[in-house]
Amino acid sequence: MQIITTKSELTRQSAACLRQGKTIGFVPTMGALHEGHASLIRRACSENEVCFVSIFVNPTQFNNAEDLQKYPRTLEKDAQLLESLGVHFVFAPTPDEMYSAEEMAAPFVFDFKGLDEVMEGKMRPGHFNGVVQVVSRLFDLVRPTRAYFGEKDFQQLAIIQHMVERSSMAERFQDIKIIPCPIVREESGLALSSRNERLSDQEKATAVAISQTLFASLEWAKEEGATVADVQQRVIDTINAVDGLEVEYYEIVDQTTLQPTTVFANAIGCVTVYCGPVRLIDNIRYF
Ligand code: PAF
Repeated sequence: MQIITTKSELTRQSAACLRQGKTIGFVPTMGALHEGHASLIRRACSENEVCFVSIFVNPTQFNNAEDLQKYPRTLEKDAQLLESLGVHFVFAPTPDEMYSAEEMAAPFVFDFKGLDEVMEGKMRPGHFNGVVQVVSRLFDLVRPTRAYFGEKDFQQLAIIQHMVERSSMAERFQDIKIIPCPIVREESGLALSSRNERLSDQEKATAVAISQTLFASLEWAKEEGATVADVQQRVIDTINAVDGLEVEYYEIVDQTTLQPTTVFANAIGCVTVYCGPVRLIDNIRYF
């Protein structure tokens, strides 16, 4: 496994693979890798001839300086895991290597067609501009055949799919296939996240109520006369009733448009909950 820190070396290696007619699987990450990432990487390694992983805590997608500063950075441990998974190339640049000073200072402009106006986008203004900025740059450098994204960040996945399939960048990225990968959960049901590392044992036990409530809501949605609005409110009330948890939002939206829906068909419920100081997200698909 080779660790690359410059854009020029990254394009040199990926271009060499493409020249040899090899398929490239790519998993972009911000490091602090866990079994959720490992599931994406295993798939990328098994479905492609070469596997690239990036580890970059992207400053332009953080709208909270403390969150950026506290984001776990565990490069050495991550590299060991990636080596054991059979990854060929790891790209771990510095912010200066990725962006010019102007790019760091000015928000990246992109037409989201409204996909950024709800949920995470509403709560974290500018977040998805940074995500599209970094992912589009990484795609330009790696030119992957397939790129793998977890469904835990459902809105991010929807926006990347929009970027590749329907936006002004669609032609540029027409050869890239986005592969959505299911949420990986602990045995308790807690969705795996790099942020879980910041939870105490007590907080981790408390946070289990989030997924338990989402799963219970699948049954509530089947009750006679159940409406989307009722189920949405019941989820919020149930999680907020747990000591130590506070819902930021729970929205049941259409899986394609991400707009609020009144029917359960093609709906997904997306939640963000503060567990102490740690912001956790999760989601559940209805029928
Ligand atoms: O999901 C993440 O870890 C990040 O948003 C991503 C896609 C690596 C872009 O920085």
